[in-house]
Amino acid sequence: MFPDRRPRRLRSTRAIRSLVAEVELRPRQLVLPLFVKEGLSSPEPVASLPGVFQHTISSLEGACEDALAAGIVSVIVFGVPETKDAVGSQADAPDGIVQRALSALRSRFGDDLVIMADTCLDEFTDHGHCGIVTQSGAVDNDATLERYQAVAIAQAAAGAHVIAPSGMMDGQVAAIRAALDDSGHEGIPILAYAAKYASALYGPFRDAAECAPSFGDRTAYQMDPSMRREAAIEVDLDVAEGADMVMVKPALSYLDIVADVRASVDVPLGAYHVSGEYAMVQAAGARGWLDADRVMDEHLLSMRRAGADFILTYAAVDAARRMITG
Ligand code: PBG
Repeated sequence: MFPDRRPRRLRSTRAIRSLVAEVELRPRQLVLPLFVKEGLSSPEPVASLPGVFQHTISSLEGACEDALAAGIVSVIVFGVPETKDAVGSQADAPDGIVQRALSALRSRFGDDLVIMADTCLDEFTDHGHCGIVTQSGAVDNDATLERYQAVAIAQAAAGAHVIAPSGMMDGQVAAIRAALDDSGHEGIPILAYAAKYASALYGPFRDAAECAPSFGDRTAYQMDPSMRREAAIEVDLDVAEGADMVMVKPALSYLDIVADVRASVDVPLGAYHVSGEYAMVQAAGARGWLDADRVMDEHLLSMRRAGADFILTYAAVDAARRMITG
């Protein structure tokens, strides 16, 4: 008896493997997260995220040029303001750092680049929480929604193409949709961070965005890592509230969730390959323990295989360049 040769016949050459590949990774499927910091005179590297910088507005434009040259068509902007307060006033100030960055990018790149804005308060509040904190230290859901509405309007007015609420307040998508519609921004889509878990993998991001909570943590609003079925509830609510696209975050340790969400909704699905997921691979690569580029590509491909249409990743530009040359 000879074995069935089907498993290996289609693996014999690079060309035949590429003919039958079930999924692939293209630069257009990668979204580059970018940080812009007020008051900087030159870009500052983020120690825990090799290759990632806190940008000035002008270096931010340069980073977008590089991304476009590598075939990337979208970025998501995070801001670090000079002053923070209890309500995150700079998040919706017309001259706030994010609004200035969005309008600079929009006037420089027009509609050639999809400019997304992360809509949240944690980078702008002095306590580092994603919403308005009550005297008892809890985050007040509905008071926060009003702030998100103002922030979304300010970001849309400044030139954002996509509003991406990441705070995990109940009803945030409906609130923001209503605010955008009432302010003449009915054409601006919402990318909902729909299933966002309370993850230790956000550590390096909090250095980059300078937004670690000064007390407590985010477990009362972000999802518990034990929850699988609950992701479907979160996603269904967001789609019902008007989300145009949904996201699962983190990505790699939540591929079951990516696959579940892919099977249950038809809107475009993003996966956020978060800071800690990127940093781990970079750190091991720097020690020579593994080939960081290949591991990064394998991780990104796994997110596509699980069902993500697009991936937010700090590796976007390097990975896209490898796709062009490879
Ligand atoms: C909240 C926000 C966070 C990230 C994206 N948006 C931080 C948090 O929830 O604590 C994390 C992204 C990453 O780790 O790469 N504005």
